[in-house]
Amino acid sequence: MHGPIDGTRRRALGALGAAALAPMVPVFAPAARAQPLPDRYTLRAAPARLSILGPEHPQTDLWVYNGRVPGPVLRVRQGERLRVEVVNDLPEATTVHWHGLRLPNAMDGVPHLTQPPIAAAGGRFTYEFVCPDAGTYWYHPHLRGNVQVEMGLAGALIVEEAERLAVERDVLWVLDDWRMLRDGQVAQDFASMRDAAHDGRIGNTVTINGTLPDEFAVEAGERIRLRLLNVANARIFALRFQGHTPTVIAQDGMPCEPYVPDGGRIVLGPGMRADVILDGTGKPGERHRVIDDFFAGQAYEVVTLAYDPRKRRRVSSAGPMPRLAPNPVSEPDLVAAERHRIVFTGGMMGMMGGMPGMGGVWAINGRSAGESDHSHAPLLTLAHGRSHVLELVNDTAWWHPIHLHGHSFRIVSRNGARESRQPLVDTSLLPPRERAEIAFVADNPGDWMFHCHVLEHQASGMMATIRVA
Ligand code: C2O
Ligand code: CU
Repeated sequence: MHGPIDGTRRRALGALGAAALAPMVPVFAPAARAQPLPDRYTLRAAPARLSILGPEHPQTDLWVYNGRVPGPVLRVRQGERLRVEVVNDLPEATTVHWHGLRLPNAMDGVPHLTQPPIAAAGGRFTYEFVCPDAGTYWYHPHLRGNVQVEMGLAGALIVEEAERLAVERDVLWVLDDWRMLRDGQVAQDFASMRDAAHDGRIGNTVTINGTLPDEFAVEAGERIRLRLLNVANARIFALRFQGHTPTVIAQDGMPCEPYVPDGGRIVLGPGMRADVILDGTGKPGERHRVIDDFFAGQAYEVVTLAYDPRKRRRVSSAGPMPRLAPNPVSEPDLVAAERHRIVFTGGMMGMMGGMPGMGGVWAINGRSAGESDHSHAPLLTLAHGRSHVLELVNDTAWWHPIHLHGHSFRIVSRNGARESRQPLVDTSLLPPRERAEIAFVADNPGDWMFHCHVLEHQASGMMATIRVA
């Protein structure tokens, strides 16, 4: 089926064959800065035929926003109002969800829960909301996400801080993973039971900003804010920048105390983001590899950092680590918090033990809610304005990035041990058979989705609604 990714980036083409050598593509334009921002955007979702594998390969039939993949980067200033008119020129209904944004429930983009689906072939819907938090967010459909996101519908939303961070470049890498056939088309095996019951739809082709990357040009001495965003359906990335020590300054958009992750590995499950400071500590002309080694024995090169042989900057990378101002998120009161237990079951192996019922592959507290279930009866009702601790218990043999809409939460413990950093995130990656406690103030009223962001798991039951009232 889908061959494992191993060896180098070139072999990452898998199904396409090793002959695929992508030419250098200048996908990494420096971010435009200090320009006036539009006060209204239009996103048109439509089929398009684009080259993502390079000129030696056939073009790929995709579904995209505004004719490109990933969709355009939407920028807004913190505290300002974003208005986006969505036009649906797809052959099926869609919605747009604003992942990680603490916005009013009616703007959350969940079909049958917060809005009717935007009809196929010409339907429109205008999203309008204030962005309270600065950082790196993203947008994607919330209807048949396992199909629509895989077909190319995803883009970044950057909420700019009031104060510009002192870096030479602000760079975005949208990481995606595709299951490509030899003819350059996206495999249409979306209903695969194997994917649903195992680790989701892992592809054979990894792209950065919609192309097969070759080199990323770096200048010795420069300091880069690198925004990493994983829009893959299922692939978890663990990125190592050989010869470098990137420092994480924000997770899921939210600023954190700067830290160097264990082993220099930046682990990003689907939906997750990390903003890192990448200092050009190499010498002119040097080349260093960026490796993804999340799956043991299947490490491959994502891209090469290629230092300009001639240029050297005035070592701005030697300065103190820049810090982002915190976002206005309320801190939970762990002592007064109400406690709730949420158990995830199912998947291959789980099913052999008799789980789950109701025809789903996965279940949350024994309930399996697929996308055709429009009842959205809440799994939990959380008292509005109070602090809550949810104990998440992964009683399965698989990894799950668990995402809550409309709130950011702190991961306060793992397997009963207090977390030292207690990161503020919107998605918590739960390893097999592990537990985590997350805490937050339920300060955003409404019915919010709570689901696994492996989109094949979400589609096969690992989804629920949490009511804040
Ligand atoms: Cu990024 Cu409910 O999703
Ligand atoms: Cu999952």
